[in-house]
Amino acid sequence: MKTLSTDPALVHTFREVWAELSGIGRAPDGGYLRFAWSPAEVALRDWFRVQAARRGMPVTDDGNGNLFAVWSPTSDERLSGAAPGGVLTGSHFDSVPHGGAFDGPLGIVSAFLAVDLLRERGFQPTRPITVAAFAEEEGSRFGVACLGSRLLTGAIDPQRAAALTDRDGISLGDVLGATPAGARPELVARFDAYVELHVEQGRALAGPIGVASAIWPHGRWRFDVEGEGNHAGTTLMTDRRDPMLTYAFTVLAANKEARLRGAHATVGRVEVTPNATNAIPAAVRGWLDARAADDETLAGLVEAVAKKATERAGRDGTAIRFTAESTTGEVRFDPTLASNLAGLLGGAPILPTGAGHDAGVLSAHLPTAMLFVRNPTGVSHAPAESASDADCAEGVKALARVLEELSAQ
Ligand code: GLV
Ligand code: MN
Ligand code: MN
Ligand code: MN
Repeated sequence: MKTLSTDPALVHTFREVWAELSGIGRAPDGGYLRFAWSPAEVALRDWFRVQAARRGMPVTDDGNGNLFAVWSPTSDERLSGAAPGGVLTGSHFDSVPHGGAFDGPLGIVSAFLAVDLLRERGFQPTRPITVAAFAEEEGSRFGVACLGSRLLTGAIDPQRAAALTDRDGISLGDVLGATPAGARPELVARFDAYVELHVEQGRALAGPIGVASAIWPHGRWRFDVEGEGNHAGTTLMTDRRDPMLTYAFTVLAANKEARLRGAHATVGRVEVTPNATNAIPAAVRGWLDARAADDETLAGLVEAVAKKATERAGRDGTAIRFTAESTTGEVRFDPTLASNLAGLLGGAPILPTGAGHDAGVLSAHLPTAMLFVRNPTGVSHAPAESASDADCAEGVKALARVLEELSAQ
């Protein structure tokens, strides 16, 4: 194995490994199309299996599409009764449409390189270290974020998950060829902690590494506006029942209500029927992504938007209906673990995030922590997402330090 223990060697190795992935699912704009179980994401899963095999780490699939590669203690240590238990680390391969390179894969690549670094130093874990690739974290294909970790932990019914369809009408059940296995409590119980390394998704870090304190509560609400399709040239302005107006008002109301509360609201996806320049739409379907610092503020925001939109629909002669597609309550990561890790990493800052992660789902079941790697552009879910090779190498070192600590306890 190559030497990783000097910074230039680690930066070089990171760059080399990263280059193996950078062409997979890359669009001409530099963004990524890595939807769960698409050919690109399957190629990344294959890459995962190859990396695990190279390191002698057996891979298991939990029946929900999540992959686990295990570095077990030697048989002597196992016989001593120290194993099992152990630390889980990893992230996801899937992306939003035209997403960045780092959101997800950085956590998986860093996990394998952290294993290499520990091995090179002669470290032997007393309990297993497991690298995970979670399925459909972004919810870009089937609409529910963190679908793999929700299934694993029993946070979503497997029958409901199997029936979720993508934009082509293909269901998750079709993709898996079966209903997902759903909750695997015995598997979750094997782990003593989960640590996810992730690119930071704003411009919140001055130094290379941060530790997460909390995830803002957030969710996705689909809103369906129905009106009357009609001719753009012949229908009097006073005779229209135009769902686009209700839709546009809803977007503006969401923006205003979020600003009033110091919250975040986004409408980033819309479908128009029939979607013709010269036809008043018959229906418009939008998706509201709303996030706030606490559950109460988030609930108040969504309620206010729905109320205003419904009033507006009354004036437009349309009908609007809101449906919650996925919601995640406020996540507070284990504060003792966060401050211990921050101390271990030389006083790394501890900060909350507005982005969702599998770590948020797992934190209801395991002591969970997140490490963030600085993102100089502050952009994420877009091609300009960034992280320097040197900071990524710092991330690998930080993760190795944390795994060493947690797997030796
Ligand atoms: C996922 O990354 C999300 O925060 O939406
Ligand atoms: Mn993301
Ligand atoms: Mn992510
Ligand atoms: Mn995420």
